[in-house]
Amino acid sequence: MKQNLLSLLRALNLLHFADRINFMRQQLLNLPSNRAFRKNFPDISLPPDYLMYESFSLNYEQYYVASRNASEAIADTIKKHLKVKDNLSVLDWGCGPGRIIRHMSDFFPNASLYGTDPNNKSINWCQENLNGTYNTNSLEPPLRYDDNAFDVIYGISIFTHLSEEMHDAWMAELLRVLKPGGIMYQTTHGDATKIRLNSDEVRHFDDGNIVVRGKVVEGHRIYTAYQPARYMNNLINSHGGVVLEHISPVEKKRIPPKDIWLITK
Ligand SMILES: C[S@@+](CC[C@H](N)C(=O)[O-])C[C@H]1O[C@@H](n2cnc3c(N)ncnc32)[C@H](O)[C@@H]1O
Repeated sequence: MKQNLLSLLRALNLLHFADRINFMRQQLLNLPSNRAFRKNFPDISLPPDYLMYESFSLNYEQYYVASRNASEAIADTIKKHLKVKDNLSVLDWGCGPGRIIRHMSDFFPNASLYGTDPNNKSINWCQENLNGTYNTNSLEPPLRYDDNAFDVIYGISIFTHLSEEMHDAWMAELLRVLKPGGIMYQTTHGDATKIRLNSDEVRHFDDGNIVVRGKVVEGHRIYTAYQPARYMNNLINSHGGVVLEHISPVEKKRIPPKDIWLITK
């Protein structure tokens, strides 16, 4: 039902408008708990509401507390594969307003942390409020970094908002800036998210093809892509990457979890 409504709004070019309405609805729904969070934790700097909503969800506790746990889980998964442990250079590709990177100095002590994102408001906020080095990038590569610059690169919910063309361009670019033996961690919409697709899309997905729902600004939260494992394996291998691990979670009814890819070169 919800997916049918979203498809209709997308077809009518009304999805950005509907997303703005949803933002205001979320502001109202979260108002009591967000006020309580601000009162209990006055020293925690939080990004403006729209930046938080656009990149995640508009609940301060989830943005801060749940995301700290998520950051630790991401770091632990990466560390299982990392050979070098000290003086790491770590890139958060698509860092948004810093939900994950703000915690990473606790889990990668002494690392040099970098964040990049096309949203200059998010990057300005990170520069003013968080430790680390923050840069903007364009929707299309290149990044400003040298070849083989990073021991670790992670991208949380970035490929899930890009076109097929950008999947190729960014996989090549991210592998360019990853050190040989470095670890890249990316999330995608895998099998567990198929419950959101209509029957034509499921057929396309099951044939090993990426499913893209566009008709809105590429890279925005409402531009969505779904990637079957066969597609991801081909994408990574065709750009010289090697899949170290693919974690495909089981379906949960309300919020389908994302697939995780650990990649090296
Ligand atoms: C769903 S948000 C996730 C933000 C952050 N990774 C997190 O987990 O909180 C998607 C982010 O990808 C960014 N983005 C979109 N296109 C991008 C691109 N070509 N390169 C890097 N980031 C991109 C958006 O600006 C946005 O901040």
